[in-house]
Amino acid sequence: MSQNKPNAVQTTGHVWDGDLQEYNNPLPNWWTIAFYITIVFSIVYWFIFPAWPVGHGFTTGFDKITYVNDKGETKTSHWNTRALLMKEMNEHAEQQKPYYDKLMAEPYDKIAKDQDLLNFVASAGKTLFGDNCAACHQSGGGGKVGYFPNLTDDDWLYGGSYDKIQETITNGRHGYMPPFAEVLNDTQITDLANYVLSLSGEPHDAAKAAAGNQLFHSDTAACFYCHGADAHGRQVIGSANLTDKIWLWANVPAAQSAEDKVAAVKKVIEGGLNKGVMPTWGGRLKPEQIKLLTVYVHDTLGGGK
Ligand code: HEC
Ligand code: HEC
Repeated sequence: MSQNKPNAVQTTGHVWDGDLQEYNNPLPNWWTIAFYITIVFSIVYWFIFPAWPVGHGFTTGFDKITYVNDKGETKTSHWNTRALLMKEMNEHAEQQKPYYDKLMAEPYDKIAKDQDLLNFVASAGKTLFGDNCAACHQSGGGGKVGYFPNLTDDDWLYGGSYDKIQETITNGRHGYMPPFAEVLNDTQITDLANYVLSLSGEPHDAAKAAAGNQLFHSDTAACFYCHGADAHGRQVIGSANLTDKIWLWANVPAAQSAEDKVAAVKKVIEGGLNKGVMPTWGGRLKPEQIKLLTVYVHDTLGGGK
């Protein structure tokens, strides 16, 4: 018996089991057309871009990308995101090239007066510094007491001139101070620590500092060999200036009490220093990148001398 009522949905006319019927609900036209368009689109797409796996490879598509690789060779390959990235980086490098050319051509004192070039250094240097240096020196170049020197202040282990900074970045640095725990006794080391603290106006015991002064300039402790008779440090070996308020290894600023300050300095004298390793960038960065970073450290971070 037919269930069809007037105005009800049409059936296909098939009937099973006497009364089981199939409604005829065609999809709206817009939907069907859109569906066919997606099929046509995908077929076109398969021809242009990499699409189907075939054996151990895949269909690469007709589209090609031409780019210059790291070795300076021009390569053409089928479309892929890696090649696309290379191409975008080529275009980026193309935009930066006139600035890099100028940077390489001009001496540091001229660069320092060229605001346009300094703006470029500030923006390109931020990325370069972020990628290579910030992991240690922190993104603003502020460093970390006990680990990495602050590059924004006026205090330089190895010198803050353009030439010295460039030399540091190119060749790396490795500061070394021998441990004195075996050489000197605890009283002597305490005296030396008090003397070192007195040099930068930190709280100290005057009598102990006087004894430390003697030792510092004696052949027994021989601190003056490396730090200089005036304790200003020697930049050829990166021995710290002990007369300023800037500390890299002995965390004096964080110490709460006078005893803690003495203890922080004693720890450095007893154990020596061998962990200050600045990596070598000469082989890893291009000369123009090193020059850019030198200007970035000197002028953008602003600690340069
Ligand atoms: C693995 C950590 C590390 C990275 C990465 C690093 N540095 Fe250093 N850098 C150091 C350490 C540690 C020292 C101090 C060396 C010492 O005490 O002898 C230093 C020292 C320096 C100095 C000398 C500071 C002074 O007072 O004379 C400069 C300039 C410098 N780094 C710049 C850079 C630049 C630019 C980069 C990025 C290309 C960079 N560093 C990447 C760890 C690092
Ligand atoms: C062989 C050379 C050498 C001798 C000798 C030496 N030092 Fe040093 N000292 C250094 C160097 C180099 C550094 C910096 C290490 C670095 O940055 O990696 C340093 C760092 C220090 C610091 C840390 C400063 C800071 O900013 O935290 C103190 C304190 C210090 N020396 C005190 C002494 C005293 C006191 C003596 C004598 C007992 C002495 N040193 C003997 C080479 C020496």
